[in-house]
Amino acid sequence: MTDDRNPPQADSIITPHDFWTWTAQSSANPFPLDRAEGVFLWDTDGRRSLDFSSTVMCVNIGHGDQRVIRAIQDQAAALPYAGPRMATQVRATLGRRLAKLAPGDLNRFLFTAGGADANENAVKMARAFTGRPKVLARHRSYHGATHGALALTGDSRRKPWEPFLMPGVVHFHGPDRGHAPFAPAGAPTNDDELCRLALAHLEQVVSAEGPETIAAIVLEPVSGANGVAIPPAGYLQGVQALCRRSGILLVLDEVLTGFGRTGRWFACEHWDVAPDLMTLAKGLTSGYAPLGAVAISERIARYFDDHPFVGGLTYSGHPLCLAAALANIDVLEGDGLVARADRLAPGFARRAAALKDGHRSVAAVRAIGLLAAVEMESGPGPRPLWRGLARGLRESGLWVHQHDEMLILAPPLIITEAQLDDGFGRLSTFLDGVDARLVGGRG
Ligand SMILES: Cc1ncc(COP(=O)(O)O)c(C=O)c1O
Repeated sequence: MTDDRNPPQADSIITPHDFWTWTAQSSANPFPLDRAEGVFLWDTDGRRSLDFSSTVMCVNIGHGDQRVIRAIQDQAAALPYAGPRMATQVRATLGRRLAKLAPGDLNRFLFTAGGADANENAVKMARAFTGRPKVLARHRSYHGATHGALALTGDSRRKPWEPFLMPGVVHFHGPDRGHAPFAPAGAPTNDDELCRLALAHLEQVVSAEGPETIAAIVLEPVSGANGVAIPPAGYLQGVQALCRRSGILLVLDEVLTGFGRTGRWFACEHWDVAPDLMTLAKGLTSGYAPLGAVAISERIARYFDDHPFVGGLTYSGHPLCLAAALANIDVLEGDGLVARADRLAPGFARRAAALKDGHRSVAAVRAIGLLAAVEMESGPGPRPLWRGLARGLRESGLWVHQHDEMLILAPPLIITEAQLDDGFGRLSTFLDGVDARLVGGRG
């Protein structure tokens, strides 16, 4: 990124001492973020971008909310740190609040530093509770970048680290039209049929592995970065029924989908399914402080009444992060942001669908709540069509998260209709250029 021709500026905020994630250092193109407010980001040249992905699908309440900032400041003044074996007022208050919000009888909470370690701790709990070694997870899923969470992950990010990941994970195909062998692209499978085929496939995997060897099935209720795959009606219920029949625990990863993103507090509410364990992060604090959690159901919590949980973290229950979570939940509740996401959802989905109708470069669009994936055609030619899209979008004044051929749209839940029009307008103009450059114009 820096060489002799481009020596780093003494006052630049991008320095040769940085080490960037998910990229070769020479290809890194970090956003020089100066400040952020509401749905907007400003770079150090004063250029404004609309944050159309809540940064990394986490700033659900929007940027710079003074109520959360003040809560963190107040907590810092009162008690900035407590050890993981110490009880604090903020922990007690947050636990009570989460127990009221969480589905089913999820009413105990292990606090972690983020989503990946929440998933790893959920796997530990499932293995300890069942005494079984294996875990089933989906292809086309993401569960975090640490060795255990990557083992669960079903996408390209796992591959460079194989085979030295957490052993015991077996992947299965979800009801992903066009991406599962039982539902190839173009096959006229309706939702009921897709659901039936996906559940039959999962049943086969469980039976082949031996249900008595499987501790848990881990899945995102709606996949995030792998393309917002929305399960057909009956799928999650079917997975839960299979789990119950087989003594397998259902672990739902709501790290990305939790706290209003899909127009419900938790995405599993769309299908009335309460898991045995649920993992949280991102929208739990809207990114104002790093925090994850494992929500534990009653019967599993009871098991650990008499069995030690062998695990812990220096920052489990960090008061600054818990204070951020509490204030963030106050904002989500007080400002009615979950209901707002639900209200905005049809218009959001309509605008997203128009991107596909208007652009040959777009293969598919899926949306739920204020979460959408724009899946790009792989297109002709040696270079994949979609490479570097997010970088180009940045020039259009939009911040959009990209993973492989997917653009993930997930604006803060405070976004207005006019701001949605503006964002989709910019995206559409940008895609006009992609069509013209790479597939020869509109089809
Ligand atoms: C569904 C899901 N699970 C887990 C994670 C990992 O969370 P973290 O990056 O906080 O470890 C992510 C992050 O993007 C995610 O989207």
